[in-house]
Amino acid sequence: MLVLGIETSCDETAASVVEDGRRVRSDVVASQVLVHRPYGGVVPEVASRQHVATIVPVIRRAAEDAGIGLGDLDGIAVTAGPGLVGALLVGVETAKSLAYALGKPLVGVNHLAGHLAAVFLDEPPAPSAPGSPAAAPSGPPPSDPGPWQGPGPPFPHLALLVSGGHTALIRVDGPGLTALLGATRDDAAGEAFDKVGKMLGLGYPGGVAIDKLAAKGDPSVFALPRALPRRDDLDFSFSGLKTAASTLLRGRTALPEGDELADFCASFQAAVVDVLTRKSRRAVALHGLPHLVVCGGVAANRGLRAGLTAAGAEDGFRVYIPPPKRCTDNAAMIAAAGTMLLARGDRAPLDLSVDPGLPL
Ligand code: KG4
Ligand code: ZN
Repeated sequence: MLVLGIETSCDETAASVVEDGRRVRSDVVASQVLVHRPYGGVVPEVASRQHVATIVPVIRRAAEDAGIGLGDLDGIAVTAGPGLVGALLVGVETAKSLAYALGKPLVGVNHLAGHLAAVFLDEPPAPSAPGSPAAAPSGPPPSDPGPWQGPGPPFPHLALLVSGGHTALIRVDGPGLTALLGATRDDAAGEAFDKVGKMLGLGYPGGVAIDKLAAKGDPSVFALPRALPRRDDLDFSFSGLKTAASTLLRGRTALPEGDELADFCASFQAAVVDVLTRKSRRAVALHGLPHLVVCGGVAANRGLRAGLTAAGAEDGFRVYIPPPKRCTDNAAMIAAAGTMLLARGDRAPLDLSVDPGLPL
């Protein structure tokens, strides 16, 4: 079964062809990072316009890379929310037009369900040729494949979903069957990375820059708090950490540079990783499910990947983390989640609408 995935929920225009929900035949991601960088964050209207300009070449490229014509598809899966309303509309309207013109089944996918499905993908394709619309994905270099462990986890399993807009611990009972166990009460982990990156003058998105610098720093130099609201629940809070980082920086005459900057990044990253790791361990212990998926953009973070892998080895649970390029936004994960829905008979009507606040 060949499914085209389309993802335009934020600042990545992405299309991918996935076979049988698992084998990635093509994976095209046109990142808008450089377009938004001068503004220090994603400008929604600019994002929508970029999606309009890029979506058709990106889809063409995905079909070409997969070696298929669009008529060979068995279905189309598109992100219907959550995300930026104008950005989502570009993907959904394009998907509906294609589904209508080609006479193919259409399914709307929750972006978060896409992140949860990324772990079932295998066989990363060869990199696209230079000059293609596919820009380098954000996240650590591909030389770091991370602890990719092949076949996906059994159901039920636990998932730590950490992205720019969400931080949650989830029990996944089956495709599309989830229960929220805990979530952030304020900022998402990625949001904290991006805000602190901005304070440090590292530009947008801060997460990737902090990850790189942290690798060279000493995490014990700056004392930053670990917020663990009620130790035995599974909720998170990152606003206190962000405020502590801001207070520390404002108390200085100049922003840290060189080794000191690396130490600050390492200290901040360690605080985030520590909280995420402790709560994940707690979730495994509380729910007795020894399989933990880690997904979402922040799962590309090398400190988090190492921290959770070590925790799993120590406590005896298995950790599944997609390769970095499948943690940040991509359309292969949307095709994977969409295939599961299409296979069980889900179909979206041709008046499918978007929902910027769509819950999991
Ligand atoms: O999943 P994603 O690509 O988009 C959303 O659905 O939000 O996640 C983006 C977030 C951003 O906050 C970005 O800074 C963060 O993921 N991120 C990272 C890394 N790569 C991306 N944070 C820390 N370390 C990274 N290597
Ligand atoms: Zn995402």
